[in-house]
Amino acid sequence: MKVAIIGTGYVGLTTGVCLAEMGHDIICIDKIKSKIEAFEKGECPIYDPGLPELVVSNYREKRLLFTTNLKEGIKNAELIFICVGTPAKANGETDLTYIKQAVKEIKEYLDHYAVVVQKSTVPVQTAQWIKQQLIEKADVAVNPEFLREGTSVQDFFNPDRIVIGTDSARANGLLTELYKPLNTPIIHTDLNSAEIIKNASNSFLAMKISYANLVAKLCDKAKADVHTVMAGVGMDKRIGKEFLDAGIGYGGSCFPKDLESFEATFKQHNVDASLLDGVRKINTEQVEYVLSLVEKTLDVKDKVITVLGLAFKPNTDDVRMSQSIVLIKKLQAKGAKVKAYDPKAIENAKKELENVEFFEDKYLALKGADLVVVATNWPEFKTMDLYKIKEQTNKVIDGRNIFDPERMKGLGFDYKCVGRNK
Ligand code: UGA
Repeated sequence: MKVAIIGTGYVGLTTGVCLAEMGHDIICIDKIKSKIEAFEKGECPIYDPGLPELVVSNYREKRLLFTTNLKEGIKNAELIFICVGTPAKANGETDLTYIKQAVKEIKEYLDHYAVVVQKSTVPVQTAQWIKQQLIEKADVAVNPEFLREGTSVQDFFNPDRIVIGTDSARANGLLTELYKPLNTPIIHTDLNSAEIIKNASNSFLAMKISYANLVAKLCDKAKADVHTVMAGVGMDKRIGKEFLDAGIGYGGSCFPKDLESFEATFKQHNVDASLLDGVRKINTEQVEYVLSLVEKTLDVKDKVITVLGLAFKPNTDDVRMSQSIVLIKKLQAKGAKVKAYDPKAIENAKKELENVEFFEDKYLALKGADLVVVATNWPEFKTMDLYKIKEQTNKVIDGRNIFDPERMKGLGFDYKCVGRNK
């Protein structure tokens, strides 16, 4: 099929590249010229395992093209995916400027039948608005994406479900055909329900994490182990074992923003959503909790604190809304000198932080440290040489619960973590 993708962020690029890999003819459109030029040189500005290789191979095979020209890009497209950014406004509502701009241009240039597919995460009734704008020009569908950063390619090809929301049989048929090779259960819905499926899924996952973090604090007070508690809770199939890892809290470009946007939607419809308010509050407090563990261990003023991990999660260079960045700023505000290491996210972190000494080697970052904080659960931290850490400092605050508390204490560490401090 001939598919145009508007927006080459995580979702747009991964969708374009993976659909190309499935054999479709893809053209990715982005207004940022430097991005398009980078793709055409075989460079991938986004770090995500497997993604750069697929950009290069599909571009070489000419299944994947890039352009800054929307008019040209949508010329022959049967399907036009809108994957532009939907940032937050100051009041938490979603800023739909880029969506509106894309729709305006589609309306202006579309000269044949196509299905316009809303893939960006948006508040309910956005697609209805798009439909009104494009009436008699195109059919509209909502097809939310559930892929995660760090595992985007893997998630695209192995989704738990595909959601197709539309009231057009033709659009439904085309999208069903597009995804057929993935052999995944498809849920067919109306436009509004499809949008809420995405909003409600992200908020539910954020809620699971905050719930684990809430229980973790009780575990610390009551001398229990949150790891074991959540393993026991998650074994109930109705609950599920994933997204119950307590730690420093969730970050990234999705959960914090999407939760607030969903709250704003409830507000607009006069439905009390204090449950979601609680989820957000717990997450904000979680950084404070990790900070309190640091301060219980030493007075941070003028001390050297090494922070391991800057990305909001492993396998990405993304530091947007990273709890690690929030923690570092709080440590600095209290007078700490911060050294930091991350396998991929240093360049992005440099744009967010000042007066931090960055290291390309985790062991070098430990030199002279009074205390170490683990802020991202990169796999390489789990296998660190603990003796090398101990040569520098015995004080470790594990904001991601990656180490075994018994072992750490056995080795003589002054070790604290989240919900496992028995
Ligand atoms: C999230 C959703 O998981 C995707 O399904 C969705 O498509 C995406 O948002 C989106 O809307 O675009 P993502 O933000 O890439 O994906 O990352 P997650 O793997 O969900 O992690 C989010 C945050 O939660 C990270 O900071 C992670 O460290 C934290 N987390 C995750 C925990 O603290 N505990 C857990 O048990 C799981």
